[in-house]
Amino acid sequence: MEGHNPVSLFRLLLIQSFMVWLAMSSSNITDQSALLAFKFGIKFDPTNVLAHNWTTSTSFCNWIGVTCSTRRQRVTVLDLGHMGLQGTISPYLSNLSFLVVLDLQNNSFHGSLAHEFGHLHRLKGLWLQYNYLEGTIPTSLHQCRRLQVIYLADNNFTGGIPTELGMLPELRYLSLGENYNLLGTIPLSLGNITKLEYLAVERSGLTGSIPFAIFNLSSLWYIFLPQNTISGTLPDDLCLNCPNLEELVLAYNLISGPLPSMLHLCQELTWNRRRNRESS
Ligand SMILES: *[C@@H]1O[C@H](CO)[C@@H](O)[C@H](O)[C@H]1NC(C)=O
Ligand SMILES: *[C@@H]1O[C@H](CO)[C@@H](O)[C@H](O)[C@H]1NC(C)=O
Ligand SMILES: *[C@@H]1O[C@H](CO)[C@@H](O)[C@H](O)[C@H]1NC(C)=O
Ligand SMILES: *[C@@H]1O[C@H](CO)[C@@H](O)[C@H](O)[C@H]1NC(C)=O
Ligand SMILES: *[C@@H]1O[C@H](CO)[C@@H](O)[C@H](O)[C@H]1NC(C)=O
Ligand SMILES: *[C@@H]1O[C@H](CO)[C@@H](O)[C@H](O)[C@H]1NC(C)=O
Ligand SMILES: *[C@@H]1O[C@H](CO)[C@@H](O)[C@H](O)[C@H]1NC(C)=O
Repeated sequence: MEGHNPVSLFRLLLIQSFMVWLAMSSSNITDQSALLAFKFGIKFDPTNVLAHNWTTSTSFCNWIGVTCSTRRQRVTVLDLGHMGLQGTISPYLSNLSFLVVLDLQNNSFHGSLAHEFGHLHRLKGLWLQYNYLEGTIPTSLHQCRRLQVIYLADNNFTGGIPTELGMLPELRYLSLGENYNLLGTIPLSLGNITKLEYLAVERSGLTGSIPFAIFNLSSLWYIFLPQNTISGTLPDDLCLNCPNLEELVLAYNLISGPLPSMLHLCQELTWNRRRNRESS
C-alpha cells in the first residue's frame, strides 16, 4: 500500500526529474563558465567580438567561434584564429570535456599551456601556432589519446619535445618549429607513432641525431628539420621503409657522412635540399 502511494510516487518522479535537470544544466554551466573564464583571460580584443557577442543573453552555442554538438549542446569546436586576441589561455578551457578542435592560431596569446589540457580526452586538433606561448609543452598532452594534429609552431616554448608525445597513437601532424628555445633531441619515442605523416621542427634548438626509427614510419611523407644543430648520420637504407617521403629538408644542420644510397627508393621525393656545413 505504502509503496504505491501516489503522493510518494509523484515525489519520487519529481526528485528524479530534478536530478536529470541538474545533470543536464550543470554540464551546460560547466561549458559556459569555462568559456567565460577564457573570455576573462583575454585582455585585448580589437574587434570587440567577445564583448558584444559572448553574452549570456544567448546560449553559448550561438557565440561566435563556438560550435556545439546538436544532441547534447556541448562545445565541440572553439575556433577563434586570426582575431588579434591578446591574453592568456585559461586553464578552465580544459573543462570543455567534449572539445574536439581548439583553434586559437595567429593571435597574441602569451603565458603557458596548462597541464590540465591533458583532460581533453576527445581533442583531435590543437592549433595554437603563431602566438607567444611560453613554458614547456605539457607532457600531459599524451592523455589526449585521440589527438591527430598538434600545431605549436611559432611560439616561445622552451624545454624539449616531450617523450610522451610518442604515446599518441593517432598523431598524424606534429609541427613545433620556430620555437627558438626548444632544445634537446628528437625523442626516439616518435618512431612509435605509426600514423605520423608530417614532422616539422624547423629553426629550433634541436641537437643530437635523428633516431633512425623515424625513417621506419611508412606513413611519413614530410620531414622538415632545417636550421637546428642536428648532427649524426642518415641511415643508408633511408627510403626502404619510408617509401612515401615527398619532402626531406635537413638544410643548415651538422649532419655528416655519405648520402643514403637507397634514396632512389623514395619515388615521391621531389627534390632534396639537404645542405650541410660538414658534408658539403
Ligand atoms: C553572435 O553572433 C552570432 C553569429 O553571427 C549571432 O547568431 C548571434 O545572434 C550573436 N549574438 C549576439 C548576442 O550578438
Ligand atoms: C542544456 O543542455 C540541454 C540538454 O543537453 C539542451 O537541451 C539545452 O538546450 C542546453 N541549454 C543551453 C543553454 O545550451
Ligand atoms: C594573422 O591574422 C591577421 C589578422 O589578425 C591576418 O591579417 C594575417 O594574415 C594572419 N596571418 C597568418 C599567418 O595567418
Ligand atoms: C575547471 O578547470 C579548473 C582549472 O583547470 C579546475 O580548477 C576546476 O576543477 C575545473 N572544474 C571542473 C568542474 O572540472
Ligand atoms: C622567449 O622567452 C625568453 C625567455 O624564456 C625571452 O627572453 C624572450 O624574450 C621570449 N621571446 C619572445 C619572442 O617572446
Ligand atoms: C615504443 O612502443 C613499445 C611498445 O609499446 C614500447 O615498449 C617502447 O618502450 C616504445 N619506445 C619508446 C622509445 O618509447
Ligand atoms: C626498421 O624496421 C625494420 C623492419 O621492420 C627493422 O628490422 C629495423 O630494426 C627497424 N629499425 C629501427 C631503427 O627501428
